[in-house]
Amino acid sequence: VRHLNPKPLCKKHKGFFVQLPELFLVSRKLLMALCDQKPHSLQSLCGVLAVDAKEILEQLDLLETQGAQIFQSGENVFRLGTNIEFIDESLIYALLDDCIKPLISRISIEWTVDSTSDFCIDYAKRNKDRVYVCIAEHQTRGRGRRGRDWISPLGENLYFSLFWPFGRDAPSMEGFSLSVATIVAEVLKTGFGFDGVRLKWPNDIYCANKKVGGILVDVTGDISGSFGVIIGIGINISMGSVLSKKISREWTDIFKETGKKISRNELAAKILNSLIPALYQYKTDGFLNYKNRWSEFALYLGEAVVMRQHSDIGYVGRFVGVSTRGELVLDVAGELMLF
Ligand code: BTN
Repeated sequence: VRHLNPKPLCKKHKGFFVQLPELFLVSRKLLMALCDQKPHSLQSLCGVLAVDAKEILEQLDLLETQGAQIFQSGENVFRLGTNIEFIDESLIYALLDDCIKPLISRISIEWTVDSTSDFCIDYAKRNKDRVYVCIAEHQTRGRGRRGRDWISPLGENLYFSLFWPFGRDAPSMEGFSLSVATIVAEVLKTGFGFDGVRLKWPNDIYCANKKVGGILVDVTGDISGSFGVIIGIGINISMGSVLSKKISREWTDIFKETGKKISRNELAAKILNSLIPALYQYKTDGFLNYKNRWSEFALYLGEAVVMRQHSDIGYVGRFVGVSTRGELVLDVAGELMLF
């Protein structure tokens, strides 16, 4: 970063903002009160939160539909099934490298949003030249690639989006999402000792042949004008919620694979510390800088795979690598095909 001489994008807004509406404050306080995982009576919760029993019961219902694991033992005694480390803006800020702090104009920590990426898209409409991050405890309409849903239970995983304004001289976006996936895989491996992390072309984060995370890239503006990207990153950290039953594909989380509950705050900060310098550099280097690094994590490399084109025509071949544009190179009976 030191060579890049980046300019702060906004001198005024260095800090973070937490603007939780009243309703979510009750939700949040209730979850915090239950965080010790000990049984709490309805009466004691009313006392701690200074609200009536009806409101506590409504909020418990709401928390449950959002994916929190709340258990009832006996009449009106409640217990949380898992320990939650809340997303904490001051902790993320403290963990950011000093050279990164002034580059981010705002980090919004939200309790519940439709999608952190949609939140960023909205922000980008009003602030075309500012770097913006949104992290949420819960998403009601988390989006995956190919129009899929991204199931996002409360407090369990990382739901993170970053708006990066490339401005007028946008780089080629070929291989961009593979580059982001490489950075996330490197952070998980070197920053958290998650040696089992793999990448499934183009940008799925895998472990033990199951999906553990994904990258979604949206674009705003156009290449000739004020072009920007919204990078959405979802990583399963520890998913015990019943909402996980809605996931149609095989999935896993970092806790299941490593036995370690990594800090979501630390993960968010480490991703920002790696991603932001990489985005500066991307205009110069593009995917070239990532081609070999991506391949180090590649799942099924050298193996026989089936690739589908136009939904149903399948090609069987050997996955020999990725091109300089991030395409998958398949060796079909000696002939190289690009996907
Ligand atoms: C995929 O399908 O692999 C991409 C998943 C991306 C999910 C993340 S969670 C944070 C951000 N907000 C969204 O709505 N989607 C992305």
